[in-house]
Amino acid sequence: MSVLTLEPVTAANWRECAGLTVRPEQTEYVAAVTYYLCLCFYGSTWQPLAITRSGTVVGFCMWGVDDDASRWIGGLVIDSAAQRTGIARSALTTLIERFEAEPDCPGVALSYTPDNTAAKSLYASLGFRETGETVDDGVEVVARRYV
Ligand SMILES: CC(C)(COP(=O)(O)OP(=O)(O)OC[C@H]1O[C@@H](n2cnc3c(N)ncnc32)[C@H](O)[C@@H]1OP(=O)(O)O)[C@@H](O)C(=O)NCCC(=O)NCCS
Repeated sequence: MSVLTLEPVTAANWRECAGLTVRPEQTEYVAAVTYYLCLCFYGSTWQPLAITRSGTVVGFCMWGVDDDASRWIGGLVIDSAAQRTGIARSALTTLIERFEAEPDCPGVALSYTPDNTAAKSLYASLGFRETGETVDDGVEVVARRYV
């Protein structure tokens, strides 16, 4: 049975994270993982996580805490070779459970480009509902899941 874990990005695994790629038609929906790693390293908002399956990095995401204590998830990338095998659903479920178990967590938020139908249906199936808010100059819609 394959074991999925969320792990810190370290000197040992950052290259595997940086090597993750999406399908050509998906590149408009996300930045390169190297860009996300720089956001995490040089900014003060985001924390990176490597998503591993049986010890191999198959995905990446990052998380942060907003002023209202909402937990945000961003930069979700599952390597093209590993997509459609339940990794994103499993990783997000783990992360949501982790956040919602924290005493001060009012809910979890994320954003996506409205025509990213794969992400939209994944997030909707996990209980995220669009709020009418947008980010990135209106490019992405915000969806939230309340505790
Ligand atoms: C969106 C993405 C993260 C999904 O990751 P994944 O591990 O392949 O997703 P899962 O296998 O866990 O699938 C969960 C659900 O997502 C949806 N989904 C995933 N891939 C899909 C696709 N190609 N088309 C339609 N729906 C899709 C489905 O609802 C699926 O549930 P189902 O299998 O019961 O139908 C992945 O396709 C990806 O990395 N895309 C490029 C980057 C991106 O868009 N990230 C999100 C930015 S907001």
